Amino acid sequence: MTGGALALRGPAFAFRHDPFEADPDDALIHWPDALVVMRDGLVTALGDHAALRPRQPDDLPVHHHPEGLIGTGFVDAHVHYPQMEMTGAFGETLLDWLDRYTYPTEARFADPAHAARIAALFLRALLRAGTTTAAVYCTVHEHAADALFAEAGRLGLRIVAGKVLMDRNAPPGLLDGADHGIPATQRLIARWHGRGRLLYAITPRFAPACTDAALEAAGRLWRESPGTYVQTHLCETEAEIAWVRELFPAAPSYLAVYERAGLAGPRAVMGHAVHVDDADLSALRETGCGVAHCPSSNLFLGSGLFRLHDAKAAGVRVGLGSDVGAGTGLSALRTLGDAYKVARLRGARLHPAQAFWLATAGGAAALRLESRIGNLAPGMEADLVVLDPRATPELALRTEGAGLADTLFALTALGDERAVRATYVAGRLAHDRDAPADTEGP
Ligand code: GUN
Ligand code: ZN
Repeated sequence: MTGGALALRGPAFAFRHDPFEADPDDALIHWPDALVVMRDGLVTALGDHAALRPRQPDDLPVHHHPEGLIGTGFVDAHVHYPQMEMTGAFGETLLDWLDRYTYPTEARFADPAHAARIAALFLRALLRAGTTTAAVYCTVHEHAADALFAEAGRLGLRIVAGKVLMDRNAPPGLLDGADHGIPATQRLIARWHGRGRLLYAITPRFAPACTDAALEAAGRLWRESPGTYVQTHLCETEAEIAWVRELFPAAPSYLAVYERAGLAGPRAVMGHAVHVDDADLSALRETGCGVAHCPSSNLFLGSGLFRLHDAKAAGVRVGLGSDVGAGTGLSALRTLGDAYKVARLRGARLHPAQAFWLATAGGAAALRLESRIGNLAPGMEADLVVLDPRATPELALRTEGAGLADTLFALTALGDERAVRATYVAGRLAHDRDAPADTEGP
């Protein structure tokens, strides 16, 4: 009997080590014809098909992807689900973009039906992008977080998410009134944290939108809520940093605002961290914070160029964030294409092994989930993506006869959702690009 077992067959790759810490050319394991056996949501066996197949039951169902490339699912370490409908808003830098586009869009989530509709669209879009774990900002509305968790639970996705906390410098309809944000967060933690694969992130939006009292209350709640996360924004633009200096004149740095409120530590993920100095990088490492590198967003808003290689050399846990809607899409492949360009503008080179590490194991490390997700190996959760190196005529031409690393690089330079052939979540097929559209729900 195979029970709920399912296997994938085809070319596959995984990581031997962190390609930022040791030779990236040696970091990838490549199976030209692998068998990946999944059972009860986990990868239970992985190896060369010829060697492994005879040891498996004859009736094991096998999805064969001879033209595909099987890897671990992508981790999006920073994304705003309510901003999906305003992706690609014209012409502003961060603070004006928030006022002009973001806050009015998020205000629409006062309507629970709207929140439920966008949550469903968003999660299905993640699956089309091959993303199987995401750290997600909701809006200030409690029911908007409920909508996301409920749908992610139905799909079996591993989601870290939270209701945004903000109590100043935004339109009144988006501010937590006195004694609202923390009790709402407590109710959401009680309802969702640790339920299935769902995890809660206490989500003070960013220092300028939070009073000292709100940040301190968030820090207290984090200490009292074992296993929960913190997510917020840090040092995204120069103008934002100058504003933080005005609002918190006693703080020695932007990061120190969070540290003093008890909001820096393991399972805290700081979005962006573009304009940080070496002391900030050391503090991020010492406190154990993760950082979400959001290259598409940083290019789109003109925020700046993240010091990726410096952050990794300093020992900071760095993942990749789409940051939709400032980022222009949920595709990890496209976001990695932008990460490469950001590295080029810094005079550095992002090796394809390093790129894929960021989008998988790096994000898992930033979220402290590296023992469960982010690599393809027995015992890890069975969240997989099947990439298609021949998804478009341009990709097919570019990857003809290419080795693994060059194929991966081409996928980041030319690829997007079209190059995601299938996505498996907890050992089940959750997205099939080539299935008729009406089999996938809304
Ligand atoms: N800083 C505070 N809120 C946001 C947001 O929604 N997006 C981005 N990119 N930065 C922020
Ligand atoms: Zn963001």
